[in-house]
Amino acid sequence: MSAHPQATPALALGIDIGGTGIKGGIVDLGTGELCGERFRIDTPSPATPPEVTAVVGEIYRELLTRDPNVGAQTPVGITFPGIIHHGVARSGANVGQHWVGADIATLFAEELGREVLVLNDADAAGLAETEYGAGRNRSGTVLTLTLGTGIGSALVHDGVLVPNFELGHLEIGGVAAEKKASSAARKRDDISWEKYARRLEKYLRHVQFLFSPELIILGGGISKKPEKFLPYIELETPIEIARSANNAGIIGAALQAQRLNAH
Ligand code: BGC
Repeated sequence: MSAHPQATPALALGIDIGGTGIKGGIVDLGTGELCGERFRIDTPSPATPPEVTAVVGEIYRELLTRDPNVGAQTPVGITFPGIIHHGVARSGANVGQHWVGADIATLFAEELGREVLVLNDADAAGLAETEYGAGRNRSGTVLTLTLGTGIGSALVHDGVLVPNFELGHLEIGGVAAEKKASSAARKRDDISWEKYARRLEKYLRHVQFLFSPELIILGGGISKKPEKFLPYIELETPIEIARSANNAGIIGAALQAQRLNAH
């Protein structure tokens, strides 16, 4: 799938809520690039819904001042690092259980005084990568895995997202994969890159067996150092490193907000 800049607004806003930072940007949907600098504020601690909502509002209002072509009609997408079902958070493994049950679509819409789209962070990254990045022009099943504090996953089939895939919580040997194969797990367990790669390969093999993807895209913090672990991994499925690691959440959120606005 590709964006249709003539038929739809060329710009949309994306805001990406992470464990350490909340980042926003104006996205050119024709190119999938940010227009200007992104704007980041540290995630408040504790990251309660009211505190995070206030920061999201601050970022939105800042972005409105940055471009005369951006306004109340510009689509806004916001990511969250947990399951989002009908705008309600259903998990929050790495942000706190107090989010579970929070109607964040309504919270954010009230703060911004307008409609917003809320989606899972890895889903946004997968959309960005399949539209503009490593999975561009790939048909069939493309699986994006973000290896960071947890493991996020996005299943996109022929350009269409199946939301909330949550493969980071797939259990291998009775343990959730993200507890063993995330970037945080490597640091916490203080293991060599080779040992980490073996863990990751075991996980990828399991995922490959279950879903037979055409391509696996690896994103998240660890994708900045592919030379450390990729040489140790052997897999039949091709692996690509995400192209827009830092901004994939912002870009994918903006893209999906525009798509859902347009239909
Ligand atoms: C959450 C996912 C999220 C991922 C990356 C996991 O713990 O369950 O929803 O996408 O972390 O933030």
